[in-house]
Amino acid sequence: MRLFSFLLLILILNSCNTNNKAENTLETAVPERAELSYDSKIFLGNRLFSEKTCVTCHAIDTYYKAPSVIEIMKIYKENNADIVSFLKGNSNLL
Ligand code: HEC
Repeated sequence: MRLFSFLLLILILNSCNTNNKAENTLETAVPERAELSYDSKIFLGNRLFSEKTCVTCHAIDTYYKAPSVIEIMKIYKENNADIVSFLKGNSNLL
């Protein structure tokens, strides 16, 4: 009888374990994200630019402590440069 109860206990514990595993895989699964809308990109970029304190030196349209965002965009466009690549650290200063 003792052996039977022991086996039953192991069986119950094991069934609980498999349930937990199933839940864990569900929680860690990352859903694929759809392409963001233009407005969402502007919103997130604006937030990133403020949160990373870029705004302490760069203003949008006037030279503050550093070239303005508009000026930087103009220079990058004129030189046909890739600003995303620069900000990711994959290319040098212009
Ligand atoms: C401490 C002040 C300061 C902060 C903070 C700052 N910048 Fe700058 N940034 C400058 C200055 C000054 C220049 C001009 C450098 C030059 O022309 O030699 C510059 C230039 C740039 C350029 C042009 C680079 C090039 O190729 O000429 C980009 C793009 C830029 N900053 C993006 C950012 C971003 C994004 C952030 C926030 C993560 C940021 N900056 C934060 C001072 C700052």
